[in-house]
Amino acid sequence: MSTTSPALEVQGLTRTYGTGDATITALGGVDLAFARGTFTAVMGPSGSGKSTFLSCAAGLDRPSAGRVLVGGQDLTDWDEDRRTRLRRQQIGFAFQGFHLLPYLSATQNVALPARLAGGRPDRARVRMLLERVGLGERAHHLPGSMSGGQQQRVAIARALVTDPDVVLADEPTGALDSATARQILALLRASVTEMGQTVVMVTHDPVAASYADEVVFLVDGRVAGRMTHPTADAVAGQMAHLDDLVVAR
Ligand SMILES: Nc1ncnc2c1ncn2[C@@H]1O[C@H](COP(=O)(O)OP(=O)(O)O)[C@@H](O)[C@H]1O
Ligand SMILES: [Mg+2]
Repeated sequence: MSTTSPALEVQGLTRTYGTGDATITALGGVDLAFARGTFTAVMGPSGSGKSTFLSCAAGLDRPSAGRVLVGGQDLTDWDEDRRTRLRRQQIGFAFQGFHLLPYLSATQNVALPARLAGGRPDRARVRMLLERVGLGERAHHLPGSMSGGQQQRVAIARALVTDPDVVLADEPTGALDSATARQILALLRASVTEMGQTVVMVTHDPVAASYADEVVFLVDGRVAGRMTHPTADAVAGQMAHLDDLVVAR
């Protein structure tokens, strides 16, 4: 990845579903750049396009228009194979639903992205990540024997295992109690501060957002506002008045 270009950039990102009168505009032209080593929270009402944004940024979903650049490389027109390779090498993601493989242990699930990328999983790193998400004792458990919150934490460890440049997380603390959520947020913060990773996290929680360097507010598939150095109170206040942002736009 070039060191001068943003870790992740979207230009005029547009995603529509359906056709004619039934067209739904999930993203209506989003321009955002995420510098290396930054932590951004994406917030907005349900249906504002947050998950669609992450899926397009991860190269999992194809935009209807606009461009997605990872480390300065424009992957918009790449075929599925090439996007998959880039994703395995440079992007870690923890999306809703967790997508853990049910017949693999926590350790094996976390190691999987490293295997898929063709490398040998770093056992010490897998163990360290499971410990940092508080699951050192459950390393050999199968997902089916874990709570939703534990599965979510396995998915977060898995997102970090390849030391990706960009980490995309969709409500990574949604199923967690507040103490465990703080542990996960501290881990994401450390990934940015210590490893120079770029984290983009969708969240509904103003406290979670306060761990980020900046909050981006999405409304109706567009960037309605931004807030740097967010505090939980300031974010909660803004979330209660998102309509004001839209009117001001
Ligand atoms: N596969 C799909 N087919 C049709 N509409 C979709 C699909 N995925 C998302 N949408 C619509 O796009 C909009 C944005 O969805 P989404 O990105 O999931 O929002 P958020 O994550 O902010 O709740 C919503 O109106 C949603 O109903
Ligand atoms: Mg969503």
